[in-house]
Amino acid sequence: MKRFLNIIWKITGSVIILIGTGIFFSRIVNQVPPDDMALMDRVNVIIDQGGCFICHGGPQEFCQHINWPVFGPAIRRDAEKGIRYADASYALAYVIEDLPYDETSLVKLQKAVSQQSMPPLSFYVIHWRSYLTQDKKEIFLDWIYNQLSTYYAHPRPSEEHPFEPVNPVPGFVPYDTDKAALGELLFHDSRLSVDNTVTCATCHNLYTAGVDNLDFSVGVYNQPGTSTSLSVFNAIFHSFYFWNGNAFTLQEQTYQALLDPVKMGNDSLDRIFDILSEDSSLTDRFLASYPKGYSDSTITDALAEFHKTLITPNAPFDRYLKGDAEAIDQQAQEGYRLFKKFGCATCHNGTAMGGTSFQFMGVANDYFPNTRKIALVDLGRYSVTSLPSDMYRFKVPGLRNIALTYPYFHDASAKTLQEAVTKMAYFQRDKKLSKRQVRAIVSFFNTLTGEFKGTPLNNVNGEEHKDIVAQSGQK
Ligand code: HEC
Ligand code: HEC
Ligand code: HEC
Repeated sequence: MKRFLNIIWKITGSVIILIGTGIFFSRIVNQVPPDDMALMDRVNVIIDQGGCFICHGGPQEFCQHINWPVFGPAIRRDAEKGIRYADASYALAYVIEDLPYDETSLVKLQKAVSQQSMPPLSFYVIHWRSYLTQDKKEIFLDWIYNQLSTYYAHPRPSEEHPFEPVNPVPGFVPYDTDKAALGELLFHDSRLSVDNTVTCATCHNLYTAGVDNLDFSVGVYNQPGTSTSLSVFNAIFHSFYFWNGNAFTLQEQTYQALLDPVKMGNDSLDRIFDILSEDSSLTDRFLASYPKGYSDSTITDALAEFHKTLITPNAPFDRYLKGDAEAIDQQAQEGYRLFKKFGCATCHNGTAMGGTSFQFMGVANDYFPNTRKIALVDLGRYSVTSLPSDMYRFKVPGLRNIALTYPYFHDASAKTLQEAVTKMAYFQRDKKLSKRQVRAIVSFFNTLTGEFKGTPLNNVNGEEHKDIVAQSGQK
């Protein structure tokens, strides 16, 4: 017995000494870049030493350790997983254009760096200089905060909330009153659709939170569309539009809606110019704002201008961010904490809580099993770029007013928020949430309903939806 204990003691002792020596030497070789370097350059050194691009895409090749036993396969597995969670080639595409990193990449970095979760153990046990020490972490975070506040108006909403992944919706976006008023008329004008039956508001009713609450929106000639509608409210804070992100500006987006065979069904806008020209009172008003008259660019400009008025500030959650601790209850605060803890905020970030990046549907667990019939809309961004890495990547939808914009997901596969939250946690983060956690996140989502022109946004389909939620057995 004594001999046995002795052996155990010796083994444990040797392991401790080995690890200790390892840490000692790794600290000696793992020094912070000198402080006479510019902040950006110091961060680049840290990224380089951290091997970040090895697993997250970008210019670097695999390290030679990829062929080592044990470590090699582990690194390869981590690299395959890492690129799904964060694809640096998106961020680098901006850098090549001389633009700053995109907001979502910065928010993702902020989470990984502040938790010191990167690089993974498989990597830093053999790359001693890669570990993010406390000193490296501070330099990295300094740079991230610096970028976020310089480029993305991530203001400090209040002393209590100096840096958050979510920004309050601003109270006002400057716009041209006359042009926006023209856009509002056009938005509600059925003459813009080929069979005179549909307006933009058919699918984006402002009294139903800017959506139609249908599984699949119905367009001209009663044709069903292929996806759920996305809200026009707060669209101005998104960087691109449609589930596949095929439009980078609201003008482009509107143009495509007018020409879409299901939505408004026009072959070209000429038909609209002819019909509207017969309406002299509208035409006179139009000419006052747009002396060149009707054209592709003026019609879409007026509609885009109108979207600047479709903002919903002052949600209880925004008041909370701005320092009113009483604006949301304890359960909702807990929900927000979990929303950050589970990494939901790494994709649903910024003012719109989405709309600034393309991400996989099914990062952690396959959402599209081989047995499922795949429609064009399921391909996501791939349907636009044909890049294999874009397969099943979608524009991250915004979560503002989310309690009112059911059903959820592009394929309407979640009818209630409970269902959407549970599925997101499983497919995007491999987390099985408890009922309590789901309730907390849903209660947080209920605080995201803002005000439109001073009145809390409402949905006249609300009562009907309560029945659906009751039937599903969820509260
Ligand atoms: C050996 C491969 C590997 C290396 C090297 C690596 N990562 Fe990762 N990274 C991963 C994996 C795997 C994940 C998936 C999440 C997890 O397992 O925690 C990930 C996730 C991330 C995420 C997303 C976090 C989230 O919550 O969605 C970020 C951001 C990130 N890594 C940044 C970095 C940075 C910065 C470095 C360099 C210091 C780095 N990674 C180095 C494999 C790697
Ligand atoms: C038949 C229903 C229908 C009509 C009519 C329609 N839309 Fe849409 N709209 C949708 C659907 C469905 C989506 C989202 C899915 C997609 O197409 O990718 C969408 C997306 C949008 C978005 C993007 C939101 C986002 O977060 O990406 C905006 C903005 C928008 N529509 C504005 C308009 C305008 C302006 C008009 C009128 C010119 C219009 N829509 C006509 C159904 C419609
Ligand atoms: C990796 C990025 C990513 C993460 C992490 C993520 N989401 Fe999502 N979220 C998406 C994408 C992409 C969609 C759209 C998917 C689709 O429609 O197929 C989406 C859709 C949603 C929707 C439905 C929105 C709508 O209008 O239909 C809700 C609600 C949602 N997410 C909540 C969450 C919650 C809660 C978490 C954390 C547990 C989370 N998301 C984590 C990317 C992400």
